[in-house]
Amino acid sequence: MVMRTHDGSAGDVDYGSLGPGYASYRRPDERIAHVIARALGDARAVLNVGAGTGSYETEAHAITAVEPSLAMRAMRPARLATAIDAVAEDLPFADGEFDASMTLFSVHQWSDAAAGLREMRRVTRGPVAVLTCDPARVRDFWLYEYAPDVLETEARRYPPLRLLTAALGGTTTVEPVPIPLDCTDGFNEAYYGRPELLLDPAARQACSAWSFVDDRARQDFDTSLRRALGSGAWDDAFGHLRSRPTYDGSLVLLRATR
Ligand SMILES: C[S@@+](CC[C@H](N)C(=O)[O-])C[C@H]1O[C@@H](n2cnc3c(N)ncnc32)[C@H](O)[C@@H]1O
Repeated sequence: MVMRTHDGSAGDVDYGSLGPGYASYRRPDERIAHVIARALGDARAVLNVGAGTGSYETEAHAITAVEPSLAMRAMRPARLATAIDAVAEDLPFADGEFDASMTLFSVHQWSDAAAGLREMRRVTRGPVAVLTCDPARVRDFWLYEYAPDVLETEARRYPPLRLLTAALGGTTTVEPVPIPLDCTDGFNEAYYGRPELLLDPAARQACSAWSFVDDRARQDFDTSLRRALGSGAWDDAFGHLRSRPTYDGSLVLLRATR
């Protein structure tokens, strides 16, 4: 059985306690949206699991959204479908009810990722798209030098890609998703060429990994990154990223068909 917090949150993050900043820092990025749209193809009825505030839901699809956190559901814009209060591991839908389904930046939070993906496979006739991070690549990012605990946490949370593909069954492709320099969706790697933006505590708050480290670790990060930016050490090592149009980090899109 999936444990739920007071807010209904069903994963390893209590969105009821994280505050209302998520939607302003995690705005869907149009280039990433394009990659997701391509994976969904010409599907009409699309299920979005762990839908949050509705990022990447478009009018091109008839969306059914599943979101367990009350705080997240409350932040969804009025123009979007009201999200159903349910969890990935136990979807309240019939077999093959949807043309396609997607879960974006969510599977690493589930208590049982394999069970949730098997449920998505069960209720979906066509492709299942999973936007996630490859844990084998998470530590390759410069942030590891300044906040190792944050990325160690991430490397532990993200399920191995082989676990995801095994749960999805059928044929699964894994496509790296290039991250644009001005990415509007503020996950950690989105700031690869704009390190100053990660000094904003509210930007960090919108990436759940930071809620797993204590104030001391956050303060140490702030001090060491500020020092490296001030001395030029960050730019000596990573300054080339400031003008790199896209970054191939750990972000991947899995697309599973039967
Ligand atoms: C980082 S947010 C991503 C939200 C949205 N997909 C996006 O791209 O902005 C992760 C979401 O997964 C949801 N979640 C966590 N555990 C879940 C579960 N077991 N079943 C369904 N959703 C879950 C959280 O409540 C949260 O809204």
